Amino acid sequence: MSNLTFGIIKPDAVRAGNHGKIVDRILAAGFKIRGMKLIHQSLKQAEGFYAVHSERPFFGELTEFMSSGPCVVLALEKENAVPAWRELMGATNPAEAAEGTLRKDFASSIGENAVHGSDSEENAAIEIAYFFSKLELV
Ligand code: RTP
Ligand code: MG
Repeated sequence: MSNLTFGIIKPDAVRAGNHGKIVDRILAAGFKIRGMKLIHQSLKQAEGFYAVHSERPFFGELTEFMSSGPCVVLALEKENAVPAWRELMGATNPAEAAEGTLRKDFASSIGENAVHGSDSEENAAIEIAYFFSKLELV
């Protein structure tokens, strides 16, 4: 699993019509897309996905936002995929995101920040399995 990570193009970016541009940037950065689908999460699914943040003050806001519209879930392959994808995403707060990152170009706030990425190999495997069946991964 070490060359795989999990990503989401969040509802703000899909609402703004930026998902095609973001997929283009992912491919241009050398990632292979092993799984990709458009889904609209229920509040319960978003709460399950972000269970690690359940004690954080922004949990309600975050899970409502993540279930507010369609998003694109992605299984991405590249050498050192976890840090490579986080580098392409940029800092959580777009005000701190570096030039050339997705959050610099497409995020509007720390909450509505266009993309998600796994923070470890272990979580990447868990997150891919949360959204994709084996048949949906190539
Ligand atoms: P993500 O999990 O979505 O890839 O983002 P991240 O690792 O950069 O940030 P994390 O600390 O895991 O937070 C998860 C998501 O929660 C929202 N958030 N809101 N209002 C706030 O202060 C706040 N802080 C975090 C963001 O959508 C963040 O991506
Ligand atoms: Mg995170």
